[in-house]
Amino acid sequence: MSCRTLLTGLICGNLTAMKDDTKKLKNIAAHEDIKPPAPVAEWVGDSETGFLRLLDQTLLPEETVYVDCRDSTSVWESIRRLAVRGAPAIGVAAAYGMVVAAQGAPEKDFLASLNAAGQYLISSRPTAVNLEWAVNRVMARAGESADALPAEIRRILLDEARAIHAEDEAMCLSIGLAAAPLIQQSSGVLTHCNAGALATGGIGTATAGMYVAHASGHSFTVYCDETRPLLQGSRLTAWELNRAGIDAVVITDNMAAQVMREGRIDMVITGADRIAANGDAANKIGTYGVAILARHHGIPFYVAAPYSTFDLDLPSGDAIPIELRGSEEIIEGFGRRTAPRDIETYSPAFDVTPADLITAIITDRGVIEPVGADNVRRIIVG
Ligand code: MRU
Repeated sequence: MSCRTLLTGLICGNLTAMKDDTKKLKNIAAHEDIKPPAPVAEWVGDSETGFLRLLDQTLLPEETVYVDCRDSTSVWESIRRLAVRGAPAIGVAAAYGMVVAAQGAPEKDFLASLNAAGQYLISSRPTAVNLEWAVNRVMARAGESADALPAEIRRILLDEARAIHAEDEAMCLSIGLAAAPLIQQSSGVLTHCNAGALATGGIGTATAGMYVAHASGHSFTVYCDETRPLLQGSRLTAWELNRAGIDAVVITDNMAAQVMREGRIDMVITGADRIAANGDAANKIGTYGVAILARHHGIPFYVAAPYSTFDLDLPSGDAIPIELRGSEEIIEGFGRRTAPRDIETYSPAFDVTPADLITAIITDRGVIEPVGADNVRRIIVG
């Protein structure tokens, strides 16, 4: 059975066929049709002498260069300077980063030193909760194995980091299977930043439905907001969709309103870096504005994210820490000065879209709709 027939089954809602088809679509999607463009993070070697290899996303789309991290400082710097970025991907990188840290930890005070390294890695970027989620998960495994020798703990930590990576890949696929039926044939989809394969261990969050729909034979156009100031939309999303043969059009951020007004956009889908208990969602700066535009034009606005992006300890988005970044990214972003020397800047890297502007949140655990505290808890906690 072809991927196209399978997706038609999903869209038409024939329940028995759907169960069967979802399974088969999963296999086809995972093994044949959909491949991430390049691994964003991988562990090379064993837990004693191996290292973390990261794709340096700052050099895309022009160059495909990898950085090898053999100490926690280089992992911290790679996350901070956005060599690896995107909430799930920095979680995966930090998980492997804990193995690197364990290699450098002294036998005496091994766990205390590992814990300090974890806090250090968490300090690299404050908004994406996946980072602390992954570090805490690896740290918990270390705590459970406290009686083992350091070499054995390192092996256990590498297994845990690999499990986090594999789980992220599987969650992307689940999100894709749930999101694909929302993408209509010949429709226009707008996305902001890069919540794609490059931002995760799999086929992305916002892009996952696009990859699955494309594999099923649907054609549609993705409008990629360029995403000021670091251009993740044009440098990364356009690059990966283009390589996958998905029709992608780059627009600058300030074109979104006009493009919607012209009737080119049928749905918006973005990722998220941290989602509070009430469904307020932090994502790349500019997302909130896109959500307001979508509401004004009567266009559904979807957020796609795995459970690891939810922070149920925060009652609302007001409590989400927003990263501030340096002025050089605004006034000299790509090597050319575009503002007066010494001008003051203000550069929040993320904003919060209130739950009431979000049509639904598509997660690996189900679809949250309408978005509110009760439904978030029901789907994410169960
Ligand atoms: O600063 P970045 O590039 O790490 O910001 C990334 C985003 O805002 C993504 O949209 C978000 O992390 C979702 S990734 C699946």
